[in-house]
Amino acid sequence: MHTAKQAKQHAKQAKHAMTGNGHSQHAGEDFEIDVRALRERAREHLDEGAVTEDYRADRDAVVHMLNDALATELVCVLRYKRHHFMATGIHAEPVAAEFAEHAAQEQDHADRIAARIVQLGGEPDFSPDSLSSRSHAEYVTCKTLRDMIRENLVAERIAIESYREMIHYLGDRDTTTRRLLEEILAVEEEHADDMRDLLDRE
Ligand SMILES: [Fe+2]
Ligand SMILES: [Fe+2]
Repeated sequence: MHTAKQAKQHAKQAKHAMTGNGHSQHAGEDFEIDVRALRERAREHLDEGAVTEDYRADRDAVVHMLNDALATELVCVLRYKRHHFMATGIHAEPVAAEFAEHAAQEQDHADRIAARIVQLGGEPDFSPDSLSSRSHAEYVTCKTLRDMIRENLVAERIAIESYREMIHYLGDRDTTTRRLLEEILAVEEEHADDMRDLLDRE
């Protein structure tokens, strides 16, 4: 009598078993990979880099979408930086530190999005001229600490909604990009939480 754990282990081993004819077989399933054809296709289009023939999303549309997300992240870096340096008042220090931390994380998002654009064969658009018009979130300067926090919360909520839409759009057609956006979305949700907490404390 097999335990569920043993059965799972067995299925895992069978999944990795390769037969001599270059086909990988999954025990008890019809799913079969034609490894030879797969290897040939991989060699044929070397200039395509990470984009293989089975890439099911519209690559130009995804690159365009990611460039808008890149613009959004860059505008968020600039807004958080501005707020970091302009934060003054009795409660300013921890808030300014939080703004700096967020700026660094938005920069990390921008970098990861730019890297994915290149991986997809596109070009990341860092053009300062069109940055704010392509960004989903706005660059708002603000005078008071409270206004800064509120404005950042608005921007985070915009980012959250736009990432959710992008993830929905991708579905399972480009799971690598989707996973990246899901990871970024989780951080944007933390950012929004942080801003709401600060607003409550003000
Ligand atoms: Fe971000
Ligand atoms: Fe954020």
